[in-house]
Amino acid sequence: MNTTDFDRFFLNNSEAGLRNFQHIVFKTQHLLSQFYKNNTDAFNGKHPHDIEKEINALSITSNDGEDPFAVLEDIQEMIVKNSIHVSHPTSIGHLHCPPLVPAIAAELIIGALNQSMDSWDQSSAATYLEEKLIHWVSEKLKLPHTADGTFTSGGTQSNYMGLLLARDHFCDKEWNWNVKVKGLPPEANKMRILCSEDAHFTVKKSAFQLGLGEQAVVTIETDHNKKMNANVLNEEIQRLKSEGLYPMCVVATAGTTDFGSIDPIQDIAQLAKKNLWLHVDAAYGGALMLSKKHSNKLAGIEQADSITIDFHKQFYQPISCGAFFVKNKENFRYVAHHADYLNPENDEEDGLVHLVSKSVQTTRRFDALKLFMSLRIVGDKNFASMIDYTLHLAEQTVKVMSQKSNFEVCNQNPEINAVVFRYKNDNPETQNDINTFIYKKLLHTGTALVAKTKVKDQVFLKFTLLNPRTTIVDIEDILHSIIQFAAEYENRGITQ
Ligand SMILES: Cc1ncc(COP(=O)(O)O)c(C=O)c1O
Repeated sequence: MNTTDFDRFFLNNSEAGLRNFQHIVFKTQHLLSQFYKNNTDAFNGKHPHDIEKEINALSITSNDGEDPFAVLEDIQEMIVKNSIHVSHPTSIGHLHCPPLVPAIAAELIIGALNQSMDSWDQSSAATYLEEKLIHWVSEKLKLPHTADGTFTSGGTQSNYMGLLLARDHFCDKEWNWNVKVKGLPPEANKMRILCSEDAHFTVKKSAFQLGLGEQAVVTIETDHNKKMNANVLNEEIQRLKSEGLYPMCVVATAGTTDFGSIDPIQDIAQLAKKNLWLHVDAAYGGALMLSKKHSNKLAGIEQADSITIDFHKQFYQPISCGAFFVKNKENFRYVAHHADYLNPENDEEDGLVHLVSKSVQTTRRFDALKLFMSLRIVGDKNFASMIDYTLHLAEQTVKVMSQKSNFEVCNQNPEINAVVFRYKNDNPETQNDINTFIYKKLLHTGTALVAKTKVKDQVFLKFTLLNPRTTIVDIEDILHSIIQFAAEYENRGITQ
């Protein structure tokens, strides 16, 4: 075998490599274009077992290599057709966005260049583009010039980093204790993190991963708008102190997962000034920074010690794409480590930038490119209009539901674009069951992908209206289907 036999498998200057690349990319875009041209539903409604069976029947490998078109056929039939179609206007369940076309194209460049963001000699230009985007977002958030950040895999990792820095910073300041060297201090089981009861579950998950245990997380009851009450927070901080515990961090949420509620960041920041690290989880609400009309809802975020922003939510980026910011870049020292083969200290002294020193990952994707390509090609004005439209759509949705007697809306004044509601029937015993039935019916008829959640142990449904192509007519059609499915449920009860 000659090494030129392998040319066609890689992107390189050989004719075989280039031809193969162009063919596969052309066919792939053709397949996707055809699918999107003909697809009418958010989901084909198949039963999970049937999809599992089809995937299990796929052969994973071939001996001498297979015709790419045959493989793409399989992908079309078994995967594309059996997927949840997040770009469909009635795919409005989770914080799961339709990806922008420039970002999809950028994924191809990201894959082709395959830069790794850990060391400069694996990501020369990419290093500076990521830094530039971090700087741009920091300015949008009005962070001070001491701020810095890093791209992450998403909100989970960003929240984890926020709590890690909070923990290590507190141990450093309070007990002159270096967690990186010595592990957790003897008082670790007395450290406390405060957040609202509607904060994302990754606050608890991070706490146990960081060795503090779930017991470290003290949740504050939210008000009727699902926001943290700063007075209750203050009382709780005092109570913890009086019990000899160490409240060390408060997590404010700018856009709770279910309701999109934004905690009173300014008031919380005032309280946090007294020796508490303020982490703002703006995974969802962070995109409001792009809107002139709604960016004031994030007021106070500039005072946070650390911030989570997800670009794979309302910035319309393909997964994964998130970022983590700190007000004071010095605090990245709590995650920094120098490896001789990767980011030796003297390199950094010589001005070579190795982004691994700011990350909990080593090999890391060049996701900054897709955000860059999107911001340039789509433009600020269009981003702002898309976000503003979705917030307006949420208001309209509430209005339409309020005119129908069968719908109970949980958040009458949605702060971002999530609407939590349920179908109301007259029988409290079947109230949960009917909403679960409706959820499944919507999904398995391909009508819509909505989310199902619980509010005070009761089943509720949720529209997460990220897609600026969803119209109020789409919403009215879904509500019409819900009423029909509810009737089907009631009639089923009679015939049973
Ligand atoms: C408020 C909030 N924070 C954090 C996360 C976790 O983000 P990711 O799924 O990107 O890890 C989510 C996910 O929906 C979220 O809604």
